[in-house]
Amino acid sequence: MVRSEPKIRAASEVVDGILPLLTSEAIAARVRELGASITHDYEGRSIVLVCILKGSFIFAADLARAIALPVRIEFLGVRSYGQGTTSSGVVQITQDLANPIEGEEVLLVEDIVDTGLTVAHLLELLRTRLPRTLKVCALLHKPARLCTPVPIEYLGFTIEDRFVVGYGLDRAEAYRNLPYIGILE
Ligand code: IMP
Ligand code: MG
Repeated sequence: MVRSEPKIRAASEVVDGILPLLTSEAIAARVRELGASITHDYEGRSIVLVCILKGSFIFAADLARAIALPVRIEFLGVRSYGQGTTSSGVVQITQDLANPIEGEEVLLVEDIVDTGLTVAHLLELLRTRLPRTLKVCALLHKPARLCTPVPIEYLGFTIEDRFVVGYGLDRAEAYRNLPYIGILE
């Protein structure tokens, strides 16, 4: 269990309309810590990482390599926003899991928990597939906008209530390939 996560503030210089928030080095260091905690907590077991597409694909890829356990990766496609930056509250499944997770130690890997609606909905859905355990690992959390309390066992960073992009996170499908995370001005 990761007990305290860094609280992050933005830098002051805007580059190409993006205010840098988390450098790729800071992200990599934190992902290594999360991987070490998961490796410790699940010692002697194998786990299934459920990567929530599309936003989590880069985080899940790095996290998987930071976990020194037998790992299986599954993908779950969801769409929770339209083209804008506010949650519609509607979670649409665009791609279901390809394999069963019954009896497995499942870790839901999410890029960011904002209102919490997406993760709450996905936990409810995945519970019906009868995993042995079901926990959440999120890179980012914006507690300011939380409407549904969701348990986050492994959390990278708590951030302020700003719209962020990069490292898998998008604005209308752009910016996912930025190696760092920044605030869209
Ligand atoms: P929630 O259902 O409001 O918790 O939103 C979760 C989803 O909204 C995340 O998985 C992201 O895909 C998206 N999202 C929320 N905040 C941001 C942001 O600041 N930047 C990019 N995507 C975001
Ligand atoms: Mg997402």
